[in-house]
Amino acid sequence: MKRGLFITFEGADGCGKTTQIELLNNYLKNKGLDTILTREPGSRGLGEKLREILLNYDGEVSSNCESFLFLADRAQHIDCVINPALKEGKIILCDRHTDSTVAYQGFGRGLDIEKIKYLNDIATGSTKPDLTIVFDVDIETSMSRVGKEKDRMESAGIEFFNRVRNGYLKIASEEPQRVKVIDSSDTIENIHKKVVELVEKL
Ligand code: TYD
Repeated sequence: MKRGLFITFEGADGCGKTTQIELLNNYLKNKGLDTILTREPGSRGLGEKLREILLNYDGEVSSNCESFLFLADRAQHIDCVINPALKEGKIILCDRHTDSTVAYQGFGRGLDIEKIKYLNDIATGSTKPDLTIVFDVDIETSMSRVGKEKDRMESAGIEFFNRVRNGYLKIASEEPQRVKVIDSSDTIENIHKKVVELVEKL
């Protein structure tokens, strides 16, 4: 059966992945390839509403509730966007996916990692990324890129983001085939070259 490619982009806030996903998208489109650029939380429709709550709700949000909202968004995204595009043979470039929940709600908020992985599996079924690129940079640099206007997640503090960063590195060390780490303190051009190298291999 025809199947496209599913590539996810991960890293702590301000790691530079959004710039890189756009550069890769242009690169692949210029080669005449059929790509779609999407993101979590909130690719479209219902997801947009969940994103608004997740990033901007200013009342109390329990860590469990937060996890289930990200997972609900993911289930909708997989069923309504990613699986249909994969069936059409497209290359899907997705800004954040399952590893974000492991890194942020698991390592960051301290929820049980194995339970998060199990819930991720329920949300995604048999669809798994072919490649995941983690953009790694020290938290001082990434926080300075985020700037002063922070959303709900970005306001979680430096210790939280250090746990998130270490979480990503742990995920990469456990799944070296799927997850590749790129040093994101390099120039935009050099990082783009490394991204292209990884994707060309696919
Ligand atoms: P966004 O503005 O998309 O940030 P970025 O440009 O850094 O990707 O906001 C998404 C936020 O949600 C970001 O702080 C990471 C967080 N997040 C989680 O905590 N868990 C998740 O499962 C996902 C998908 C995102």
